Amino acid sequence: MIWYVHNAWAGQVRERMHMTETFDVKLAEKVCRPDPSCRERSWIGDRDTAYRRYLDDPEGFWAAIAGELEWFGPWERVLEWNPPHARWFTGAKLNITHNCLDRHVAGERRNKVALIWQGENEGDEQVYTYRQLHRSVMRFANALKRLGVEKGDTVCIYMPLVPEQIVAILACARIGAVHSIVYGGFGTSALNARIRDAGAKIVITADVGYRRGRRIALKAIVDEAVVNAPSVERIVVLRRSKPEIELYSEMEVDFNEIMEAADPFCRPEAMDAEDPLFILYTSGTTGTPKGIVHTCGGYMVGTYYTTKYVFDLKDNDVYWCTADPGWITGHSYIVYGPLAVGATVLITETVLDYPDPGIWWRIVEDFGVTVLYTAPTAIRMFMKFGEEWPNRSNLESLRILGSVGEPLNPEVFDWYWRVVGRSSCPILDTWWQTETGMHMIATLVGEPMKPGFTGRPIPGVVADVVDREGNPVPPGIGGLLVIREPWPSMMRTVHNNDERYLKYWSTIDGLYTAGDLAVKDEDGYIMILGRSDDIIIVSGHNLGTAEVESALVSHEAVAEAAVIGVPDAVKGQAVKAFVILRLGYEPGEQLKSDLIYHVRMSIGPIAMPSAIEFVQSLPKTRSGKIMRRVLKAQEMGIDPGDISTLEE
Ligand code: WT7
Repeated sequence: MIWYVHNAWAGQVRERMHMTETFDVKLAEKVCRPDPSCRERSWIGDRDTAYRRYLDDPEGFWAAIAGELEWFGPWERVLEWNPPHARWFTGAKLNITHNCLDRHVAGERRNKVALIWQGENEGDEQVYTYRQLHRSVMRFANALKRLGVEKGDTVCIYMPLVPEQIVAILACARIGAVHSIVYGGFGTSALNARIRDAGAKIVITADVGYRRGRRIALKAIVDEAVVNAPSVERIVVLRRSKPEIELYSEMEVDFNEIMEAADPFCRPEAMDAEDPLFILYTSGTTGTPKGIVHTCGGYMVGTYYTTKYVFDLKDNDVYWCTADPGWITGHSYIVYGPLAVGATVLITETVLDYPDPGIWWRIVEDFGVTVLYTAPTAIRMFMKFGEEWPNRSNLESLRILGSVGEPLNPEVFDWYWRVVGRSSCPILDTWWQTETGMHMIATLVGEPMKPGFTGRPIPGVVADVVDREGNPVPPGIGGLLVIREPWPSMMRTVHNNDERYLKYWSTIDGLYTAGDLAVKDEDGYIMILGRSDDIIIVSGHNLGTAEVESALVSHEAVAEAAVIGVPDAVKGQAVKAFVILRLGYEPGEQLKSDLIYHVRMSIGPIAMPSAIEFVQSLPKTRSGKIMRRVLKAQEMGIDPGDISTLEE
């Protein structure tokens, strides 16, 4: 392992000569080289070879991956591409749960542990083997049928992170019902809007979820949320607490009762590859929620492929993704991808600092977690609590660390690498979206890692950084991140709103625009600079929020930072920064000027914040993304728009 300065780009911030839509960026300086032996043992092997195989024959590449899975009937065409609408594996028949369950139960993984659940009380745990999970899913699938759920109906799942949630998800997929999972942290109005838009026939919930020792009364929220939702016929309630809550009407049934009454065998419905598998609402950080639609065949292939070849999961791995199935990360990388490869998946109903900030690290040690997938926002919180917490546990079982959701700032990368990974685990930064369904850009196992860069497009994905006209921009010049070619797990449409789907492909004609700003380096590594809606233009210079935030976080006093553009008479916009300090640092004027100086030295005078405000928390979506739109609205005293996805 060596660190060295990546000379070619170090410290280069060239002045822009005239107004264009692109802009210059200072690029990272370090490369982190993992032990090359981990590549030799990896599924992906040599990236360039795999990528070339894709370019030589894209459809053949995807067909080969699809061929690793079991289908009930063959496809006629791998891809039908009528831009911007794609159909993958057309004519093929399958059921994703056959590949997640039956395929394993028929072979050597029958008694392998599929799921381990740990509750908030340490020691409170449940284990399902593949055989047990298979049976539970079949029973619950039959129970849903008895309630009148048919292929194509929509089922809303609003549950805490318990094994029954995963059983419910897979049971829907088993019978061809379309699931719409709503994160258990959402409130009444967000839930109501999602139930109505999806036209859900059944809502599956629990009496309570547990969070920091408190009970969150989910069922009570459902009661209110279904008032104006005429599509809902039945509510299924998992009753966890004793004494059991009462069920009030014919409409309400008990999860375990209907399961016990059901037949233990349920044949998987033969789905068409292009039948919808689920709707998942995303608002990202702007606008009203969109129901992203994913289909059975392509989504299965995309999540299976990336779980196996990006995470490099092996049969003896214990895999822990700290997301919730309410987000796409949970759909793809807790449920479908890992089960499709036959992994042992750990799930926990825990937060990261309860009962204390050592909880995650005790879980890693207790269960011998080998692959950990989490978000930069979590790592930044741990940095704030200090190294002593992870240091108290033995983390030697870990072999791969993943990151998703936001840019992994170099400072945070370093901590993750050093403190959690003991300077020996590859860190896989994965860029993707609810809309893409699977990893698109990532550092792969064994590749040189460049802190601050997510990595290169994975084999099967053609991503690029372009100007407004769609022309590729040279290394070091920022632009829009786009995807040029269709991929199997791409969203097919926005539920009830294909217009909105078309927009993704019309900002630049024929290219999928992700809404992110990015920059490439000379090796093709991509750095994400932030959402294009969040861009700040100071005296005609475009600044990505991530760049300035990264500079702030690299200061020893800063735990987390968010920056926004505020109107400025001279410069058009000026940078205002909101900063959460690490424990042990006090706010003050001196620190403010230190931070401003620090940004000046890291990026240049143009990025210097004109104001810094020390805060205790930042407005975030429940998936942990900073809602800069809310900060901006507060700052300017205007209406922040839809804030139903706000955490606090
Ligand atoms: C947006 C998508 C995909 C699962 C979680 C979020 C940002 C995602 C990275 C990364 C920098 C990232 C982008 C993207 N993002 N991964 N590795 N580095 N930024 O899903 O809610 O659909 O959000 O998250 O801005 O567009 P999502």
